[in-house]
Amino acid sequence: MRKIIAKTPRIILRPFALRDAAGFYELNSDPEVLLHTGDKSFASILEAKNFIRDYKHYEKFGYGRWSVFLASTEEFMGFCGLNFSQLRREVDLGFRFHRKFWGQGFATEAGFAALRVGFSTFQIEKIVGRASSKNLASLRVLEKLGMTFEKKIEESGEHWIQMSIYRDDFGMFYE
Ligand SMILES: CC(C)(COP(=O)(O)OP(=O)(O)OC[C@H]1O[C@@H](n2cnc3c(N)ncnc32)[C@H](O)[C@@H]1OP(=O)(O)O)[C@@H](O)C(=O)NCCC(=O)NCCS
Repeated sequence: MRKIIAKTPRIILRPFALRDAAGFYELNSDPEVLLHTGDKSFASILEAKNFIRDYKHYEKFGYGRWSVFLASTEEFMGFCGLNFSQLRREVDLGFRFHRKFWGQGFATEAGFAALRVGFSTFQIEKIVGRASSKNLASLRVLEKLGMTFEKKIEESGEHWIQMSIYRDDFGMFYE
């Protein structure tokens, strides 16, 4: 059985595995899902498999983005987790779910679980979240997780908002 990174009453976070490739491919085939992400869809399930096979974040840092499953059915819902940017020297939280799961608090639940792992298991000092200024749902999730506005970024003609939360404040926010 695959390792469990975090579990809440409704969802389970696990490391990416090759068997998630079809779910990943479908997730990134929905233009609405990709609208504000700046990512491209996979050309095929094989490309999604190769992405998962080449994903080295866990080996390098211990953490990474993780697959999210519905606890009741084990259905693949999307991903949520942490990413270390070599360029920016900071850890960011990201999430992406199949559209049928939107609007039910899943991103907030998964985001909270991922932040807890980042702060308590990996003792990360600060975690940021970046979203297009048009991505109101994502910005709202970051806000619900206790993140506060840090700065605006302009990149490839797109406006992004960076929010962040520190380990000490995460504890206080949820106590
Ligand atoms: C962003 C995303 C992960 C949110 O997932 P989710 O499970 O629907 O999020 P939650 O249900 O936990 O919370 C969504 C919040 O945004 C709000 N929201 C949704 N659409 C909104 C909109 N157009 N304007 C303002 N608020 C909006 C919801 O009302 C909710 O806030 P509330 O609890 O105060 O009512 C999901 O929409 C997604 O996968 N989008 C595509 C990928 C993506 O953009 N990822 C983020 C890249 S930075």
